Amino acid sequence: MAEDSTALPTQLAAATLSDVASSSPVESLKAEFSDRVPIRSIISRPDGGAGLAGQRVRVGGWVKTGRKADKDAFAFLELNDGSCPGNLQVIVDAAVADLSPLVPTGTCVAVDGVLKLPPAGTRQKVELRVEKVIHVGQVDPAKYPLPKTKLTLERLREHVHLRSRTNTIAAIARIRNALAYATHTFFQKHGFLYVHTPIITTSDCEGAGEMFQVTTLISEADRLEKDLINNPPPSAADIDAAQLVVKEKGDIVAQLKSAKAEKNEISASVSELKIAKENLARLEERSKLKPGLPKKDGKIDYTHDFFARQAFLTVSGQLQVESYACALSSVYTFGPTFRAENSHTSRHLAEFWMVEPEIAFAELKDDMNCAEAYVRFLCQWLLDNCLDDMEFMADKYDKTCIERLRMVSSTPFERISYTEAVELLEEAVKNGQKFENKSVKWGIDLASEHERYLTEVKFQKPVIVYNYPKDIKAFYMKVNDDCKTVAAMDVLVPKVGELIGGSQREERYEVIQQRIQEMGLPLEPYEWYLDLRRYGTVKHSGFGLGFERMLLFATGIDNIRDVIPFPRYPGRADL
Ligand code: 4AD
Ligand code: MG
Repeated sequence: MAEDSTALPTQLAAATLSDVASSSPVESLKAEFSDRVPIRSIISRPDGGAGLAGQRVRVGGWVKTGRKADKDAFAFLELNDGSCPGNLQVIVDAAVADLSPLVPTGTCVAVDGVLKLPPAGTRQKVELRVEKVIHVGQVDPAKYPLPKTKLTLERLREHVHLRSRTNTIAAIARIRNALAYATHTFFQKHGFLYVHTPIITTSDCEGAGEMFQVTTLISEADRLEKDLINNPPPSAADIDAAQLVVKEKGDIVAQLKSAKAEKNEISASVSELKIAKENLARLEERSKLKPGLPKKDGKIDYTHDFFARQAFLTVSGQLQVESYACALSSVYTFGPTFRAENSHTSRHLAEFWMVEPEIAFAELKDDMNCAEAYVRFLCQWLLDNCLDDMEFMADKYDKTCIERLRMVSSTPFERISYTEAVELLEEAVKNGQKFENKSVKWGIDLASEHERYLTEVKFQKPVIVYNYPKDIKAFYMKVNDDCKTVAAMDVLVPKVGELIGGSQREERYEVIQQRIQEMGLPLEPYEWYLDLRRYGTVKHSGFGLGFERMLLFATGIDNIRDVIPFPRYPGRADL
């Protein structure tokens, strides 16, 4: 991406000099794998596209706004193809095409035309005079769900399949894409291997029981129920009758044998006996079928389930990625994670994406250094590669978002222990700070308002809180020498609160085994995880960054449901 944006102007300058007044489309501007020129490569040049005047190009996009002018002699279309926030002004002469189908918002058009300098005093630096309309994907304005007047982000969630046509959702999509690219760039640059951890898992990483179950038992039970209605199980009389047939056929075989009958006569009756036995076995098998879930000792019998055991959607790829860290040293996973917590907040989703590095031969301090370097890299990346979209966000949603990126990319994070954090919060309460949540004292899980106080009010920059009480953290975190705290760390940022959660991992077999039991978790599903401590254990650390939280932080958007393309939350899973 960085190369792209720097390479482009030189390439374009060359194209301008050699191709002026040429009649063929500008080859060097054309998108690869498509026959059109991205609008970005016209209007996002430093000269706004003015240097391309005289060039013949094909563009395609969706009409943002369209209107007819000069007594319907022309149509003006603001065309957007998603390649950048800006639109290209396209002018169509009534002699070239029927104008009415072109102007409704949402119409897709592809056109060939010549770039022209607009009359002096207009906002745009270049406009396209259409010579030929290549394609029109029409819209009935009476039915199109996205009217010209703006819908709120909340209303747009009712049209998740169309909302990518809006300026805001498109800008977020580009920023999200840039952050994903930046993530891979950062970890690859630092020698981490990308590992694909499973989405379906049989171990609960956080031990919090917030997992969605993956099962085919319910659909199987539904199918069986329907089948038993259409094709009722055999009655006792049916089975008796079938048993009688078996007996009769058996008797015939016995008679023929004792009468020393012809060989082929005997084998014919043996075949009939075999068929009768098979029929009986089938009926007996079907008579055992019962509607509902399979049960054993009063509990659901998961040996009949797809995986022959209970399975779930993963809440985190950490446990599995640890097994790769304990072999390949520096690894990361980046994938979807799922939590069945019934949270209706603007910071929680049921399906979200997490970036989880895991580093062998690394302790908590290394982990904090990595988290800080990564977050600062992401911020700088957006400033370097996405400034036009960030300017849009600053203009429409959060005046301070660019400033925030600058501050974070250039300022070392504050680091305080949990104990210090609680002391600061207690002091704030003494000085009149009001919090809605339970009273602040050592041992509480910090609430979002506490986290935001620390990062937004107290330090006004990202804060890493480390060494949390062990009772409020997961079983895998390394127990500190004080036996009260674990080597955990959370990165808190303004606007969001917790962006990252991580820790040094407990690498001592006895200690972690005891921790699993202390937390009331069954040992069996974690035996493989304990093997990593049984065989060749090593100190190691890692963290998870909530990718949508990073988007909230970067863009200043208020609700996490608007920074993921297809949000899933309680009561809602559209498409
Ligand atoms: O703090 P969490 O629960 O940590 C873990 O899952 C560790 N296993 C990560 C690791 O060490 N590899 O989650 C990590 C981050 C949080 O800090 C938060 O940003 C985000 O994931 N997160 C959520 N984001 C959206 N919706 C939810 N329901 C989230 N739950 C956590
Ligand atoms: Mg956490």
